[in-house]
Amino acid sequence: MILLGIETSCDETAAAVLVDGAVRSNIIYSQIAQHAPYGGVVPEIASRDHVRKLPGIIREAMQGAGSSFEQLDGIAVTYGPGLSSSLLIGYSAARALSQRLGIPLTGVHHHEGHIYSVFLSEKPPVLDGAFPMMVLLVSGGDTKLVYMKAPGCYEIIGQTIDDAAGEALDKGAMLLGLGYPGGPVIQKTAEGGNPRAVRFPRGLDNPGGEWKYTFDRKLCFSFSGLKTALLYHVQHHPESLKDETAKRNLIASYQEAVADALAVRIERALELYDCVSFACAGGVSLNKVLREKLGKLSEKCGVPLKLSSPKLCTDNAAMVAGAAFIRQSLGHPFILPDDVNPNLRLENWDNT
Ligand code: KG4
Repeated sequence: MILLGIETSCDETAAAVLVDGAVRSNIIYSQIAQHAPYGGVVPEIASRDHVRKLPGIIREAMQGAGSSFEQLDGIAVTYGPGLSSSLLIGYSAARALSQRLGIPLTGVHHHEGHIYSVFLSEKPPVLDGAFPMMVLLVSGGDTKLVYMKAPGCYEIIGQTIDDAAGEALDKGAMLLGLGYPGGPVIQKTAEGGNPRAVRFPRGLDNPGGEWKYTFDRKLCFSFSGLKTALLYHVQHHPESLKDETAKRNLIASYQEAVADALAVRIERALELYDCVSFACAGGVSLNKVLREKLGKLSEKCGVPLKLSSPKLCTDNAAMVAGAAFIRQSLGHPFILPDDVNPNLRLENWDNT
């Protein structure tokens, strides 16, 4: 089965071709340079850039895979969640192309793409022996713990009650004048710094107070206090931004707090749920410190860890086609969405 994947949910324009679930091409154009001056993604700029770039990116993906449009068996496109004006560009292109070629179109939930990216490579995906699996989803706008008894079976057991981990890194970097996006620049500037120089909060540490969520508090995340702690630290210690070593230590400590808050929650989740593997997916899963912590956790608890290869961590279209392929190959039919859905929820395959 040859599938073309298309992804335009935010600020990456991406297309990929998968043959029987094996990645043959994965072309990603990042709009970061366009949005960097504004310190975040500007929806209007994003959608206009998708319009400009998508046709060329699709052609490049087809050429890279050595496939012709006539050989395609289907098209998979992200239809939510994301920026509606960005989602619409990929969705409209995918819909037009599928009608022109007379092949099925399937809609993919962006987070499903991230989740199944941990199974993708140049070889067909193998899911045997991976479930039940615990997933830590850390994309730019979301931080969640998802327990998966089986493929397509999602139980959200914890989530952030304010900012996502990626947002905490992006906003922290902005506050420190490091630029956008924050994750990669924080990782780079923190190199060689002392992660224990400044003690930052890990979120929801204080057990008191009202708890209005249905989730177990121990499995939820909060990064807004961390951001405020960084702001206060900088206000009270302005010298820490002037001295290179102090600045590196501060950034390393901030990164450590984000990675630690994530690692601690997935460790708790693994204690509470029986899992034969655990995974971390989404842009923040690229983070070296987080990857190291999760690797150590895997050794400590004897549960194998699944991470995506670096090019599949941030937004890409291989993960979109991969999720569609896995869904179809496990006997769950393609879904044809009528429209994009910026607030799309993660639904179990049996319910859709
Ligand atoms: O998954 P993603 O590409 O976009 C969404 O689906 O939302 O994630 C983007 C996020 C940004 O917040 C970015 O700062 C973060 O991933 N990120 C990183 C790294 N590379 C990207 N965070 C930490 N370390 C990195 N190396």
